[in-house]
Amino acid sequence: MNMKDLKVIHKINEIRPLINNNLGKIALVPTMGALHKGHKSLIEKASEQNEFVVVSVFVNPVQFGVNEDYDKYPRCLEKDVELAKEAGADIVFAPSVDEMYTDIYFKEKETTLVCPPYKYVNRLCGKSRPGHFDGVCTVVSKLFNITKCNRAYFGQKDAQQLFIVQKMVKELNFDIEIVPCPIVREDDGLAVSSRNSYLSYEERKIAPNIYKALMCAKKLKEGGIKTPDILIDASYAYLKDFDTDYIEIVSKEDFCPISEVKENSLMLIAAKTKKNSVRLIDNMEL
Ligand code: PAJ
Repeated sequence: MNMKDLKVIHKINEIRPLINNNLGKIALVPTMGALHKGHKSLIEKASEQNEFVVVSVFVNPVQFGVNEDYDKYPRCLEKDVELAKEAGADIVFAPSVDEMYTDIYFKEKETTLVCPPYKYVNRLCGKSRPGHFDGVCTVVSKLFNITKCNRAYFGQKDAQQLFIVQKMVKELNFDIEIVPCPIVREDDGLAVSSRNSYLSYEERKIAPNIYKALMCAKKLKEGGIKTPDILIDASYAYLKDFDTDYIEIVSKEDFCPISEVKENSLMLIAAKTKKNSVRLIDNMEL
């Protein structure tokens, strides 16, 4: 394997000269670390398609709610660097929280935020996570400015995030191509996620039911059923061991609910396991 000489950078003013001197397309793969084969597929695609690849590793406090898992979110930079290197990254950018946000943010919660329209953030994941997408769009914009990337790679696993970032890039005129990447799954269908490590043995066994729920809707749709409520009810039967946060079918074009399932319809599920309260999300084009 031909591994590049990867640099780990912690400071914004150290990454700038490296990127300015570089010729060719610059790709950014934004992550919160605890890298797994889902992240790896994004980095590999970025390194196939670009001359220079920056992987950011930053657990962004601004996108976590007060009762969420910010403190216990897994952090393992050394392992992340190894994975990023194998996948072909040139730089791992791992800033501290102080480097990314000024003091005043922590003292007075004051910083310039990038806030997508309420209509798109008060639903699905945004409904149970108020302020989450403001935090995502803010940090992603900062990373775009810091890395001066030409392309940025996002997983379809976080479909609402991908949609909102694509919309932000268009509406704020970022000169950046957003490259969507397919969901990477375990052999039993469970979408790979850093949060899967929180699952108990029993929860891990039932977690693929979320994938089964999505497959059930897909098969029924292929069999000619086009009414969202019928598909949702059938899928819901697979989720009895979870506390379901949402199960919805939306149009990929505007992420709004639809009255009839057509091409470009996406079923999205967020469900929490009952014992460890692990919130799992997944989606599938029907
Ligand atoms: P994180 O959860 O670390 O995910 C980083 C990227 O990896 C996201 O684009 C996500 O969709 C993608 N990803 C995660 N699991 C995947 C899988 N199984 N298959 C394909 N892609 C997968 O998403 C975030 O971090 C943050 O919100 C971030 C964008 C970095 C902003 O802080």
